[in-house]
Amino acid sequence: MQIDLSTQIPTRSGMLKLPNPVIGASGSFGHSNELFEIVDPEEVGAITIKSLAHFESHGNKSPRVAAVSTGMMNSVGLPGPDISNWLEDGYLKIKKANGRFIMAIWGQNYDDYSKAASLIAPVADSFIALEINLSCPNTERGNHLFAQSENDTREITKRVRNEIGNTIPISVKLSSGVTSITDIAGAAIDGGADILTLFNTSMGLALDPYTRKPILGKGPGGYSGQGILPIAQKGVFEVRKAFPDVGIIGTGGISNGVDAASMMMCGANAVGVATAVFIDPNAPVKIAHELKEFCFDTGVANVNELVGSIDLGV
Ligand SMILES: Cc1cc2nc3c(=O)[nH]c(=O)nc-3n(C[C@H](O)[C@H](O)[C@H](O)COP(=O)(O)O)c2cc1C
Repeated sequence: MQIDLSTQIPTRSGMLKLPNPVIGASGSFGHSNELFEIVDPEEVGAITIKSLAHFESHGNKSPRVAAVSTGMMNSVGLPGPDISNWLEDGYLKIKKANGRFIMAIWGQNYDDYSKAASLIAPVADSFIALEINLSCPNTERGNHLFAQSENDTREITKRVRNEIGNTIPISVKLSSGVTSITDIAGAAIDGGADILTLFNTSMGLALDPYTRKPILGKGPGGYSGQGILPIAQKGVFEVRKAFPDVGIIGTGGISNGVDAASMMMCGANAVGVATAVFIDPNAPVKIAHELKEFCFDTGVANVNELVGSIDLGV
């Protein structure tokens, strides 16, 4: 049986097409072509650039990453050059590479997001989408994520849409740490989002009981990897039920093709992978191959058939 892995993510202006549904999530591939000597970007469904702001940022104090038994903790923050400088360096390298790239932006306030989007607007057609990161738990805003407020989510999405126009789809990256994910997802859609990236890291705290100290320099951080797959899947499932037509990139805890299939069954059109990339930069390519095998083994000819196919019984 021939298996078709080509993927369609619905947007307001039609289908966003990818050769396979496995996307390198923001933060996994750095700001430019850092990993392209060992990973062929053409083979990855798409690669999301690590979120950038209109200002330079240095991130948090070390240690910034640590392994836990069910995944990884990080408090990297969002270090990176300001977008203007990046446009003269990292961007030019990306532009030369084959592949599909999703730009990603962040900020500390509404204006920061508008400024970031206005800097990207002139080169927007180099990207297949723009992701608005409203959900990083490692910024100076601490626990007050924009993605926890319907109003902030709607307003920032609107402002970014105003700056970027209708040239590319907008994806809004949300947090699983909210009371009602469907309310927040609805606010993003209301503000102009085409796609929802569900989710960023979960908020966590891990410590070494022998020293009684947190394992990360900052204390709390973002929890990612295998242990968060069920959390992400529940959110994806609820959003898919509430919004049957929105594009969803299910992200959180995916480390193999069977996980990817399971996330798609909950309603994701495509999946994002970050922690697995830190273990093996070729993880997205391997996961896509394993997903193909899963489709073959279970008689699924077209990967899009998996989307929302969860069997809830009667
Ligand atoms: C070290 C690290 C850095 C990350 N940096 C970003 C980032 O810059 N922007 C963003 O939106 N998400 C960032 N994330 C979150 C991931 O994109 C992803 O949403 C999250 O880790 C859950 O997926 P996973 O379980 O496959 O890692 C980062 C995650 C890790 C582990």
